[in-house]
Amino acid sequence: MSAVLRPAPELEPMRESDLREVLGIEEGIYEFPWTLGNFRDSLRAGYACWVIREARRVIGYAVLMPAAGEAHLLNLSVAAHSQRRGHGRKLLDHIVQVARRHKAKILFLEVRPTNEVGQRLYGGYGFRQIGVRRGYYPARRGREDAWVLALDL
Ligand SMILES: CC(C)(COP(=O)(O)OP(=O)(O)OC[C@H]1O[C@@H](n2cnc3c(N)ncnc32)[C@H](O)[C@@H]1OP(=O)(O)O)[C@@H](O)C(=O)NCCC(=O)NCCS
Repeated sequence: MSAVLRPAPELEPMRESDLREVLGIEEGIYEFPWTLGNFRDSLRAGYACWVIREARRVIGYAVLMPAAGEAHLLNLSVAAHSQRRGHGRKLLDHIVQVARRHKAKILFLEVRPTNEVGQRLYGGYGFRQIGVRRGYYPARRGREDAWVLALDL
């Protein structure tokens, strides 16, 4: 299909029926992916879980945990074949709006120091590094730190 004929991607709340597609993307882009249970628990806990869909197929998703006065972005992902077309930033814009709707004043997330794409996306968006969680992520050799980033809303 030519890019001209491609329907505009749409943001929708994630449903349990999306989880097979979501997991397929997750397992395609992460060395240490979330499990089906992680996504299902997030949905059942009432976290703000969103998908971005193009031609009826899920091409990206985000999971936001709102809490009193703050919110935590737990997952933001775009399918490998759909990256670098603005979907990540669109999802992030939406998540920021959702967090504001929940009256969050600050949005937190963790990112691997080695994730240059994530660093660029979040840094360009205005997130600042506020701390480090030692050994937060599994890694090929042991564990890897996480940088904690924050955005004032
Ligand atoms: C990070 C991710 C969500 C970005 O989604 P995307 O749809 O490709 O990003 P966008 O097209 O909206 O680009 C937004 C910005 O991200 C950065 N970026 C995205 N892809 C990049 C790449 N391949 N190289 C360098 N920077 C990149 C750029 O700063 C870009 O802004 P620009 O286009 O003005 O330069 C996506 O690459 C992804 O899912 N990666 C794997 C999972 C991951 O790392 N998630 C974040 C973990 S915290």
